[in-house]
Amino acid sequence: MHDDDPLKVPKDSPDHSAVSRRDFLKISSISVAVPLVAGPKMILAAGEEVPVHGPGKVPMEFTINGKSYKAELEPRVTLLDALRDQFELTGAKRVCDRAECGACTVLMDNKTVYACSVLAIEAQHKAITTVESLIEAGKLQPIQQAFVDQDASQCGFCTPGFVVSCHAFLHTHPQPTPDEIRRGLSGNLCRCGTYAGIRQAVAQIAQKGA
Ligand code: FES
Ligand code: FES
Repeated sequence: MHDDDPLKVPKDSPDHSAVSRRDFLKISSISVAVPLVAGPKMILAAGEEVPVHGPGKVPMEFTINGKSYKAELEPRVTLLDALRDQFELTGAKRVCDRAECGACTVLMDNKTVYACSVLAIEAQHKAITTVESLIEAGKLQPIQQAFVDQDASQCGFCTPGFVVSCHAFLHTHPQPTPDEIRRGLSGNLCRCGTYAGIRQAVAQIAQKGA
C-alpha cells in the first residue's frame, strides 16, 4: 500500500483503529455472500414472486423408494441424471433423453413420468418410485415374472421402463381389454419389437387378478 493510497487511513487519524481496507474488503465479500446461501433470489414473473435457483449447486432432498436422499445439484440436472449419477439407481435408462421412448419411466406420486424430462429440483417432496423397488427380498414382482414367462424382454434398455409402466397401468386397469393395454402402454417404445410379449405379460397378470 502506497502512502498516496486514497483508502489508507493516517496512523494519527482517530479512525485508524476502526477498519482496515483489508478488513473492509473481507466484510464486504461476506455481506455479498450471505444472501446467496440464505435462500433463492426472488423475481417478479406474471405478477407473482417466484424463486430463482442456481446456476450453481443447491441443496435438494428426495424420497425415492421410501428412503430419504440428499444431494447438492445444479437446478438444470434432470431426475434421471440424479437417480443414475448421484444415487446409483441405474434401473431407469437414458435412451432418447427427450421424452419419446419411455426407457426412463419412473413413478412420481404414483403417476408415470419420463425421468429424463423432469428436473430433479421439481421432484423434491414427491414420492419417486423406480424399478429397483419392484424386487422384494430378491423375489420378482408378478409383472416381472410375467415378462420372463412371456419372453417380453430382449436388449433390456426398454424393459425397466416398460415394467414400471405395466405395473402402474395394472393398478389403474386391473382387468384391461387388449385395446386398453395397447393404449395404456403407448408411451413406451421397444425397438426390438417385443410388444406382443409385453401385452401377453400384462394379460397374464390380469387373468390371475394380481
Ligand atoms: S430416455 Fe426418457 S423418454 Fe427416452
Ligand atoms: S427390449 Fe430393448 S428395445 Fe425392447
